[in-house]
Amino acid sequence: MATLVGRRVKLARSGRQMKGCCPFHGEKTPSFYVYEDGYHCFGCGAHGDAISFVMQTQGASFMEAVQSLAGEAGLEVPRPSPTAEAAERTRLDLHGVLAAAQKHYRDRLYAPSGAAALAYLRERGLTEETIARFGLGWSGEGRGALAAALAGSNATQGQLLEAGLLRSGEDGDIRGELFFNRVMFPIRDRSGRMISFGGRILGAGQPKYVNGPETPLFSKRRTLYALDQAREAARRPPAEGVDNRVVAVEGYMDVIALHQAGFSAAVAPLGTALTAEQLEELWRLSPSPTLCFDGDAAGARAAARAAQTVLAALAPDRTIRIATLPAGEDPDTLVRRRGPAAFAAVLDAARPLDEALFDLLRSAGGDKTPEQRTAFRMRLEAAAGAIGDKKLGAEYRRSLLDRFFAAARRGAARPQVTQSARPVPGVDGAMLSRARKLTAILLHHPDLARDLEEAFGALPLPDTLRPLRDAMLAWFADAHPGDEGMPVSVEVASRRLDSGALINHLHALGLSLELSGALDETPSCGRPGAQAAEAEAGWWHFYGLMHREGLEHAVESARMHFLARPDDPATLARFNALCLALFRLRRGEQSDLGEEVEGELFDE
Ligand code: UTP
Ligand code: MN
Repeated sequence: MATLVGRRVKLARSGRQMKGCCPFHGEKTPSFYVYEDGYHCFGCGAHGDAISFVMQTQGASFMEAVQSLAGEAGLEVPRPSPTAEAAERTRLDLHGVLAAAQKHYRDRLYAPSGAAALAYLRERGLTEETIARFGLGWSGEGRGALAAALAGSNATQGQLLEAGLLRSGEDGDIRGELFFNRVMFPIRDRSGRMISFGGRILGAGQPKYVNGPETPLFSKRRTLYALDQAREAARRPPAEGVDNRVVAVEGYMDVIALHQAGFSAAVAPLGTALTAEQLEELWRLSPSPTLCFDGDAAGARAAARAAQTVLAALAPDRTIRIATLPAGEDPDTLVRRRGPAAFAAVLDAARPLDEALFDLLRSAGGDKTPEQRTAFRMRLEAAAGAIGDKKLGAEYRRSLLDRFFAAARRGAARPQVTQSARPVPGVDGAMLSRARKLTAILLHHPDLARDLEEAFGALPLPDTLRPLRDAMLAWFADAHPGDEGMPVSVEVASRRLDSGALINHLHALGLSLELSGALDETPSCGRPGAQAAEAEAGWWHFYGLMHREGLEHAVESARMHFLARPDDPATLARFNALCLALFRLRRGEQSDLGEEVEGELFDE
């Protein structure tokens, strides 16, 4: 990676990584970091791997980049077969046809005949900038205008048909344009290429939306509206007025209104329940995206359906949160009436899956009578059994049944008050496991406490781990040499920051149970023999999985420290460890540390 990048960027070693001035934006101080398997710019947010580097710096296509890299490595890449190449060309042509159609629709929106449509969009609160950003348009009245307008761009009728812009009868006859008298919503793929349209009727009428048919480019179940923009946003650190939490909502207009209100990682499925494929796309952006549902009974049903899809694919490092809108509002009306803060509050109040699942399954049939409770309990067990990952399923089963018995003890006849909005890490198996891992890393590497204790102390931990943490923090405070201006010799300092001494001390305090719980989950990056830098990066990784915002802040603060004292190896090491953790988290590569480590645990 460094060799490849080094041809275009002057790189200097910086700890375990290389850094230089970012080739994607003008800068004087280097914030472009090159890792073994990728790069990340902390100035502009550019990141990717070797292939995307070649694509971005040389304007190469994906295949060209692969060919060129493989060629350099002395590998033979099988050339695409002539039929595959022809199919690829057809696809490229279809993207072009749709892009030309999009321009045509957009121009019509601003023509005199589009005045009513433009007024409609403005009346719905969309700014000029938003209309442009989403490429909205107006179809006009149909009647062959599209074909005529695209004649100049060499698009054939066959292509318009294949792109889903024309309808055909059973005999293959062309029956005219699919979209007429509709506001046009371009649908793009994850990398921003045109793949279809949705069209909304002006005002009331049925059907409200018409969507393009399945085509070689467009598969409804694989597509999320605004995914291209959300990907862009999710990889950048949040800026002033930007909230880049990944959230899936219901409709086109919701997504658009949310983006305008600063929620730039909002997406939506295209009028169907969330599919497994769409869920995978969400997980590529965030280990814990939020699914947002209406506050009514239909919303609860939709949430229950989505939960089924999620359970099958759930894993220790990928979950979801469930947010519920105030009754009678959708995200569009909410931000318009009550401002962005109202929707931010909805996201803040999103609940971890196990908690939301419990309530959804209870309201599906009640829990007033013994019969209802039995059925409820069976639904809970069935849900846990639907989890593909068996260890995690067992953890869910326990957590759901714990709640069940607690609720039964409190008296099922009393109406249950909904749980508090904040996440409750104590009941979340994945959270507990992460908390134990980062505790274990510090137990084996107490010399990292100086860098980590502040974040460790402020992290919301499961209840069971709190006494252990408090005792560790007290021990660190005692052990830090020279904190009170007392000179302590290096020898004393190293003896006092000894892992064995710390562990013995904690045993002596009667904390053996949680202590061994944590030590049992020691990840490989935190084993006693592991390098301090590796342990530190691993620590921040698990920290980031528990508290993403905390990690973003820590990176920012480490960056400031580093900029203030660029020559200090300690500030640099800290910044590097944090960058690495954030980089891995952003790329969704928990597998580097998390899954691999969890896999090892599971084998025991
Ligand atoms: P909604 O009815 O909630 O529409 O449908 P909306 O997005 O809020 O639009 P406005 O605010 O009424 O203008 C949610 C989504 O379901 C799909 C669309 O993707 C829509 O955005 N849908 C809805 C259809 O595909 N066809 C329909 O007839 C209705
Ligand atoms: Mn709406």
